[in-house]
Amino acid sequence: MVKMWEEICEQPAALKRCLETNREVINMLVEALDSHDISSVVIAARGTSDHAGIYGKYVIESTLGIPVALAAPSVVTVYGKSLKLKNSLVIGISQSGKAADVLEIIREGNKQGAITVAITNFNDSPLANEASYHLYTDAGLEKSVAATKTFTTQMYLLANLAAVWAKDADMQQQLSKVPDLVSKTLELSDVIKEKVQRYRYMNECFVLARGMNYSIAMETALKIQETCYIRARAYAVSDFHHGPFAMIDKDMPVILLAPEGPSLKDNEEMIHKLKDAGAELVIFSDKDEILELGTTSFRIPKAGSDLLSPFCNAVVAQMFACNLSLARGLNPDSPRGLSKVTITK
Ligand code: AGP
Repeated sequence: MVKMWEEICEQPAALKRCLETNREVINMLVEALDSHDISSVVIAARGTSDHAGIYGKYVIESTLGIPVALAAPSVVTVYGKSLKLKNSLVIGISQSGKAADVLEIIREGNKQGAITVAITNFNDSPLANEASYHLYTDAGLEKSVAATKTFTTQMYLLANLAAVWAKDADMQQQLSKVPDLVSKTLELSDVIKEKVQRYRYMNECFVLARGMNYSIAMETALKIQETCYIRARAYAVSDFHHGPFAMIDKDMPVILLAPEGPSLKDNEEMIHKLKDAGAELVIFSDKDEILELGTTSFRIPKAGSDLLSPFCNAVVAQMFACNLSLARGLNPDSPRGLSKVTITK
C-alpha cells in the first residue's frame, strides 16, 4: 500500500487526537484574543497549507465577521516592505514548520506586537518556535509528498479556533462530528477505486466549487496535479462564469463539489450550463437530484453544513487523486521534481 493511502486512512484518528492536543492552547489563545481589539486576521502559507488557510478565511469571516487576508509574503521577502500587523492575528500554516516566507510574516507580526500563531506538524520547527502560540496538528509523521492528514488537521484547528473564539457551542458540537464523517467518507474507497479508471488517460480538468468548498476545489486540483501530472485548474463557480467558461468544449472533464447547502443553487445552475456545453461531469454531492446529473458521481455523507462538507470533499478528492495516480502507473508518494519540504522566500 502506498503511504499516501495509509495517511488518508489515518485521518479520523489524527483529527480526534489533534483536537485533544490543542484544547488548552486554543483556550489560552482565545483569552489573549479577547483582550485585544483584533480588527483583521492575516494568514501566510503555501501549497496545501494555503488551501487550509482559504478554508480558515471563509470560516473565520462567516463566524466572527473579522476580515481575513491571505498574505503575499513577497511584499516582505522580495520588496522589503513592512506590513501594519499590530491589530491583526497573524497565522502561519506549514506542515513542516520550515516555510521561510511564512516565517518572515510571523517575525514581522512579532516585531509589531501582534498575536502570532503557527500551525505545524512539528513541535520543534522554526515556525513553532517563532510564533507566540503553536497549534500542533499532531497528525503523526507524514511521509508521502502529497499532504493529506496534515491538511484536514490544519483545517480542523482553524475551525475549532473560530468556534471557541466566537463562543459558539453549537459550532463546537457540529465540529465534534468531523472524525466520524471522515470515517464514513472513507467507506467510499472501493467505489472510487473503480470509478477513477474512466479518467486514467485524462490530460486536463477543471475543479469548481463555491464558498467554503472553494478551498477544497483548490486542494483537489493540487492533489491531481502533483500525483497524476494532469493539468487541473480550480475556480470558484462564481468566477468561472467570467471568462474561463469559454474553455469548455465537448467531453471536457469538470469536477464539481456540490453539497447540500447555501451554495447549491449556484452550483446547480453551473452544472446545467456545463451539461448543455457537453462537459463530462464528475460530481461530489450528498443530494440525489444533483448526483444524477454527473457522468460519474460520488455520494458524500450528509454533513448538514458547509462548515463540515469540506472535510468529506477533501477526503474524496484525496482518494480520487491517489487511485488515479496508481491507475496511471505512477507513485503518488514521490511525484517527479518534488520533495516533501519546499522552501521559498
Ligand atoms: C502538498 O501536497 C504539497 N506537496 C505542497 O504543496 C506543500 O503543501 C507545500 O510545499 C507547503 O509545505 P509546508 O506546509 O511544509 O510549508
